[in-house]
Amino acid sequence: MSVPNPICVALDTPDMAQAKALAVSLKPYAGYLKIGLEFFYAHGRAGYQAVAETGLPIFLDLKLHDIPNTVASGLRSLMTLDPAPAIINVHATGGLDMMKAAAEAVDGRTRLIAVTILTSLSDDDLWSIGFETTRDTQSHARILAELAMNAGLDGVVCSPHDIVGIRHATRPGFMTVVPGIRPAEAGAQDQKRIATPQAAMAAGADILVIGRAITGAPDPVEAVRAICESLHAG
Ligand code: C5P
Repeated sequence: MSVPNPICVALDTPDMAQAKALAVSLKPYAGYLKIGLEFFYAHGRAGYQAVAETGLPIFLDLKLHDIPNTVASGLRSLMTLDPAPAIINVHATGGLDMMKAAAEAVDGRTRLIAVTILTSLSDDDLWSIGFETTRDTQSHARILAELAMNAGLDGVVCSPHDIVGIRHATRPGFMTVVPGIRPAEAGAQDQKRIATPQAAMAAGADILVIGRAITGAPDPVEAVRAICESLHAG
């Protein structure tokens, strides 16, 4: 799947005025805006609607993870948002039945994707929570992506390092939405499996999720503009 502008800016702030100001100023350079736990828990549906008024498609990143009935019911409540989110997500580790129930709860206005392995987790982190130690993060992410595809989902959230394996294991058009993006000069912070915007696109990312490298920059508009330019130069 190719999208006109693959940059999805993560509006990770509890401050409504800041989120709205960022949404308006970044609109010329962003393809999507992402609303996550921090903003949605602070401002809920009204906050979502205020950001959606910019007209950019919204990725509502609430990462649902519960039993099938609860996840499906939660998604049905979210599908009454107006406008509907362009993208919404669940955790693939919720399992096949949960993802199938989720896929039934979401209609054609919204793409449903699954988080595979968080980009903040290393091999050691995964093994410490009981994942199979003969497999690394990339293998686990690929297995979870195949499960998401078999459940009827539209794509996955994965690290830049997992894209190539997932592309080989999934059907054409299965989306990869990729956080852990850092321009060469930026620090990793809590992310462990990172790549530059250009490297992630070269690996086959459909959408780049970028937060602090833009919103934490001294001049966020200049930061996103520079990333756009670097993608066109590549
Ligand atoms: O600031 P930074 O660019 O690291 O933000 C990344 C964003 O992507 C955050 O909003 C985070 O919640 C989200 N995300 C992630 N790793 C995932 C899924 C989502 O970092 N696997």
